[in-house]
Parts: sequence; C-alpha cells; structure tokens
Amino acid sequence: MTARIIGTGSYAPERIVTNKDLMKFLDTDDEWIRERTGICERRVSAGEGTSDLAIHAAERAITDAGIDPKEIEILIVGTCTPDNGFPSAATDVQRAVGAVNAVAFDVTAACSGFIYGLHIVQSFIRCGIYKTALVIGAETISKVLDWTDRGTCILFGDGAGAAVLRADETGVIRTLAGSDGRKGHVLGCQARTMDNFLTGRKPEPGFMTMDGQEVFKFAVKKVPEIVSQILEESGIGREQVDHYVLHQANIRILESASRRLKVPMEKIPVNIDRYGNTSAASVPILLDEMNREGRLKRGDTLVMAGFGAGLTWGAALLKW
Ligand code: COA
Repeated sequence: MTARIIGTGSYAPERIVTNKDLMKFLDTDDEWIRERTGICERRVSAGEGTSDLAIHAAERAITDAGIDPKEIEILIVGTCTPDNGFPSAATDVQRAVGAVNAVAFDVTAACSGFIYGLHIVQSFIRCGIYKTALVIGAETISKVLDWTDRGTCILFGDGAGAAVLRADETGVIRTLAGSDGRKGHVLGCQARTMDNFLTGRKPEPGFMTMDGQEVFKFAVKKVPEIVSQILEESGIGREQVDHYVLHQANIRILESASRRLKVPMEKIPVNIDRYGNTSAASVPILLDEMNREGRLKRGDTLVMAGFGAGLTWGAALLKW
C-alpha cells in the first residue's frame, strides 16, 4: 500500500507585482531580474494571510479529489511564514474546511516544506496508520521581505498549493528528505528580536537575509544529486520520467539541473516567470496547474524536488 495523489488545488493572491512595479521604489531593472532569475512578476498578498491562502488551495484540492473533509486523517501545512507562532496554520485549515477527524500540524522546512509533508504522510499511509491525507504548501513570504533589499525581495512571491492523498496500490514510489544545519546561516529569517525582558522593548519581527551565491551553489549541486539518488534507489532511468516538477527558485537553477541530469527542458515545467519563488507553495502550485491543464496522464512518472533554508531538501518519485 502507498499514497496516491487524488486531487490538487492552488491559490494565489490577486495582486500582480511586475518587475517594472518594483523599479518604482527599488534600484533594480526588469532585464536584470528576467536574465538572472527568469521572474517577470509575482503575486503579493493584500490582507490575506498564509492560512487564508492555504484554505483556498485546500478547498480546491478537496473538491478536485471529491472527498468528504471528515475523511482526512492527517493534515500538514508546510510553511515558514505562518500568520501566528501558534496556533498552527494547519489547525486554521482544519477548522475552515471541516477536517474534524484529522491530526493537523505545520512543518517548518522552508521551500522543502511540501515535500517534507509528502515524506511524512507517505510513511503514515505506507504503514497503515492513516488512509487519507491533505498536504499543503502555503506562504506569505512578502511579509518577511525587506523591500529595500534588492538582493532578496525581487525573488519571492505569495501563494499556496495543496494535494489530497489516499492509500492505494499505486502512487508514491519513494520519497527522501534531508537537512544540513551547518549551513543554516546562508538563508534565514529571525522570528522575533531577543532579550526583550532585558531591554524592555516590544518584540519585533525579523526580515529575510540571504547569501544568494551560496544558496545558488547549493541548489545547482543538490537538485541533480537528489533526483539521481531517488531514481537510482528505485531502479528507474531518467528517460522514463515524464515530468520533473522542481522547486521554482531561479530559471538558471532549473536550466542547470536540465544540463547536469541530461534531461530536456520540455520535461521541466516552469512557472517562475508568473509567481517568483513561492517557497513551500511552488511545487504544489505547479503540480496543480499541470493537473488542471490536463498535462498529467494516468500512469505518468513524476519526480518532484525541493530545497531551501535549513538547509533542507527533499524529493518524491510517483506514478500519477
Ligand atoms: N537588480 C539589479 N542589480 C542587482 C540586483 C537587482 N535586484 N541584485 C543584485 N544586483 C547587482 C549586485 O549589486 C551586483 O552588482 P556589482 O557587480 O556592481 O556588485 C550584481 O548585480 C551581481 O550580483 P550577484 O549577487 O553576484 O548576482 P547573482 O548572479 O549571484 O544573482 C541572485 C543574484 C540572488 C539572483 C542569485 O544569486 C540567486 O538566485 N541565488 C539563489 C537564491 C535562491 O534561490 N534563494 C531561495 C532558495 S529556496
């Protein structure tokens, strides 16, 4: 028995912010952003929180799967930008969709959050503990960006994607996940200022900081490495994979993966031009778009892979 994706959904805030919009207040350039990242525009939330985005994506995935929310036994939200320290975004979603029988919790693995969620539910479903799961990746990264820092703010966008999984004979073949805390400093965001007792100050929220080149070097090495690993461990050749659904962080990272894996770009779908990097939401948003456009056929072989702050990474190999 394994987990099979039986429904997908996604949601992004309405407001589109183009590179030219950024040029109105930031020393940056449309051409520079397109060439270095592949991003043309991103969505930025106006008043909607991470839980709101997650709820919309979840409702669409539940409708697509055609299940009763009461059937969901485990509900995971991968997010590094929850609205609250507690309660979790997952319990917000649980309440909104009526998944009253689920255990609901968040996973913090930055951009790998959705794949970590898949890794966890696959383990529970494989050993027969749960039959039906909802995994969501949802972020309002815009609220942790320093909008005066052109090295980070141009890259990210807000959004959410979700998948309903159910125990079945076919579906997920293998998942893997890993982390390396020694590299935590290259991409981070302090949650709240420290020492408020000593200073008498109110806690203030932190902002994202990033060593872009270090993250880039990590990503171009790690993505081909984990894709190769999961395929080798499963005895499946690269040419047998129909779609490589990879985290959308930078078009140059995707092109590098294409070269290193010797996989044509036609098999690596791209939507970073329209969303930027939506962190944990990027893989499930892309998956949902492909599903709704009819690009996924029953029996297709998919590899998904993500990487992010932590450092973290994860991959999933599955039959559609
Ligand atoms: N607009 C215009 N110029 C910019 C700019 C911007 N938004 N950001 C940086 N620059 C400038 C720099 O100041 C620098 O100028 P200089 O040569 O005069 O000093 C020049 O462009 C090159 O900067 P550099 O940082 O070396 O560019 P890069 O090729 O490394 O690209 C990133 C920067 C951030 C796009 C790239 O490193 C990257 O994508 N890294 C991975 C980040 C990532 O994916 N993070 C999330 C992982 S989940």
